Amino acid sequence: MSTLFDPIKIGDIELANRIVMAPLTRNRASAGNCANELMAEYYAQRATAGLIIAEACQISPMAQGYLDTPGIYSPEQVAAWKKVTDAVHAAGGKIVLQLWHVGRISHSSLLPDGAAPVSSTAQQSPAMTYTAAGFVPVSAPRALRDDEIPALIEDYRRAARNAIAAGFDGVEVHAANTYLIEQFLRDTINDRTGPYGGSIANRARLLLDVLQVVTAEIGAGRVGVRLSPLTTFGNTAPLDSNPQALYDYVVEQIAPLGLAYLHMIEGETGGTRHPENAPPFDYAAVQRAFPGAWMVNNGYGRDAAKAAIVEGHADLIAFGKGFISTPDLVRRLREGALWNELRVDKLYGGGAEGYTDYPTLAD
Ligand code: PHB
Repeated sequence: MSTLFDPIKIGDIELANRIVMAPLTRNRASAGNCANELMAEYYAQRATAGLIIAEACQISPMAQGYLDTPGIYSPEQVAAWKKVTDAVHAAGGKIVLQLWHVGRISHSSLLPDGAAPVSSTAQQSPAMTYTAAGFVPVSAPRALRDDEIPALIEDYRRAARNAIAAGFDGVEVHAANTYLIEQFLRDTINDRTGPYGGSIANRARLLLDVLQVVTAEIGAGRVGVRLSPLTTFGNTAPLDSNPQALYDYVVEQIAPLGLAYLHMIEGETGGTRHPENAPPFDYAAVQRAFPGAWMVNNGYGRDAAKAAIVEGHADLIAFGKGFISTPDLVRRLREGALWNELRVDKLYGGGAEGYTDYPTLAD
């Protein structure tokens, strides 16, 4: 019987324990959307996690949706991330990069030449985003043409290659939280005809195409995927009309690829794991269909996390807010110590305050 604190090998990556730092947008990237010394310090402080999933990182200039988020498409960005991965490895940790395209969750002021965001659809999301001018409604998107999709898939391939060049142990394909890939998956957002719209198989095609090229590029044992069947992302996107059928198909198709892990956001991201208004969803059925490591996320505390591993509900538990406030979360989980209080006003943007200045027990 395994516990939260036991080592595990996921694909090609050996982890010291089953405690994962979830990907967390912090908006502290430097000019050119480059990582920096402060980010290296922040991640190295948290390197006792079995695995760090670095914050969502845009695969191309068009993939950006918020101010000061990092990228992984330019040589400067690769060099900058290398300092982060070196710092984490020197501290004994493992780190993968989350590959992100926001799709319609963006604003023209963040995009090349003031372009409209791109999506599966031309329908605008009611979401807000953070720009140089503060919080603003996202811009109306333009629906990608089918003949633009090969270049989009190539952007994912380049990002995966760049991530390995930057020293990451692997990548996580972000297919959650109503960003681009989920804008294709959901029938309530995707209003296309043609090979990427309509049937479940067509709506899942972009995700599967992306996973094909990313696994071909860096090896499936270094690739994970993040899904969120039941999130409305703060009531900004409707759920699919039949999440069970959609994700039964998606995971059945993903299973033979040999991915290192599947990262499941249970319920409403950052909210409840059991949303009252959501349709019933059998996570266990999906888990049974997936042969790799099963990672769960969303509001786990110590007791629930320990029980989830012991009972076989999951192989890995990802903690978000816990790792922001508590750099030595692994030790505190082990010892049953309280976590630091989260400074919500310092989550997005700014400097060291509320970022690298949270105390450890050793302090
Ligand atoms: C965010 O920047 O608010 C954000 C990014 C990625 C997510 C969720 C939220 O998956």
